[in-house]
Amino acid sequence: MLNFELVNPVKILFGKGEITKIKKLVPKQANVLLLYGKGSIKKNGVYDQVTQALSGHNTIEFGGIPANPEYAILLEALAIIKKENISFILAVGGGSVIDGAKFLSSAALFEGENPWDILAKRIRTDKGMPFGTVLTLPATGSEMNSGSVISRKETGEKLAMGGPGLFPQFSVLDPTVVASIPNRQLANGITDAYTHVLEQYMTYPIGADLQDRFAESIMNSLIETAPKLMDNPSDYTIAANFMWCCTMALNGLIQKGVPTDWAIHAMGHELTALHGIDHARTLAIIAPRHYAYFLDNKKEKLAQYGERVWNITEGSLEERAKKAIDKTEYFFQSLDIPTRISEYATDYSETAEKVRSALENRGWTALGEHKNVTPDAVKAIVEASY
Ligand code: NZQ
Ligand code: ZN
Repeated sequence: MLNFELVNPVKILFGKGEITKIKKLVPKQANVLLLYGKGSIKKNGVYDQVTQALSGHNTIEFGGIPANPEYAILLEALAIIKKENISFILAVGGGSVIDGAKFLSSAALFEGENPWDILAKRIRTDKGMPFGTVLTLPATGSEMNSGSVISRKETGEKLAMGGPGLFPQFSVLDPTVVASIPNRQLANGITDAYTHVLEQYMTYPIGADLQDRFAESIMNSLIETAPKLMDNPSDYTIAANFMWCCTMALNGLIQKGVPTDWAIHAMGHELTALHGIDHARTLAIIAPRHYAYFLDNKKEKLAQYGERVWNITEGSLEERAKKAIDKTEYFFQSLDIPTRISEYATDYSETAEKVRSALENRGWTALGEHKNVTPDAVKAIVEASY
């Protein structure tokens, strides 16, 4: 097992009715920016619950954060933060709104000239403006981690940022919010969380038995929950299991002491930037091809996963590893998630080269647990995903 440090300061309030408690958690004297997306919270009652809980607070609203939070729109929110002397941000939404809040938290205290530098120059945020979240879409784990991913249409970039200053002070996880989520987003949530586990697991054996079992149990739970959730998102128990799986998949716990990969996410973000494909769907496209390409490096873990998660016990190590990749792709497809680029875009003949050069220009020429995801490998993997 590798050495590790573990700190996670996020206070989680999990369960039905917990939203009312933000009244006490948001500082009384704060000027609060209530940040949300394109309006789902106004249709499902979450907005009413939040504004009622904050009725004694000084609150200014900023709605309209789009999926894949857009830099230009966030700059408008940043101007309001400065003008109105905002001292606390409350994000109410999915990963996009929460990531937007993290960018704002960092940018509000950033002393440099150009806030884009936080992303482009990978400036770590040690201290941000305090913020909390009310999660409405289980998927990214952003509610309990310190990372954020921001998109910029003008330049076609989608970049990550983070740092210890970007943990939410609290996150409310009320599973009743799941009832209003469309099937497409439920499928995305399961796929994103599942791939988060894969990226922290599918490397090579390092004797971290507990971390492996944590990861496998999250994948088993997601597989078991997925069809039930798609049929009945209003069932509280099903929604609760889905929600907690997604948070646990990327709150830092399962990655401690083990090598991680993250190359699927790196390539996937480029597919979103180029073709506007939903984040989770880009992962379903790339993951099977990435694992097939690096079969030699990953076959021990693939076979272990195959046995413990998919009950694959027959055949050689390599055969079991390959079957495990197939099972993974079928799982995504069972959620109505197409797993080929051609099922989303028509103009993809240059995509592999564009992804290759985007990562290379950024200096990402040695991704993955063995640093062997080279620009050529990236190109081959994306091409195989057409
Ligand atoms: O904008 P509104 O109207 O709220 O609608 C949203 C949006 O259209 C809707 N939605 C959210 N909650 C709902 C709901 N609709 C009905 N009922 C509800 N309760 O769902 C749509 C998608 O929302 P979004 O926040 O974009 O989805 P998600 O949570 O999947 O976030 C995706 C973003 O997170 C990034 C992705 O790259 C992408 O930009 N990620 C962030 C990570 C992190 N911070 O740790 C890690 C991930 O790997 C990922 O990269
Ligand atoms: Zn993801």
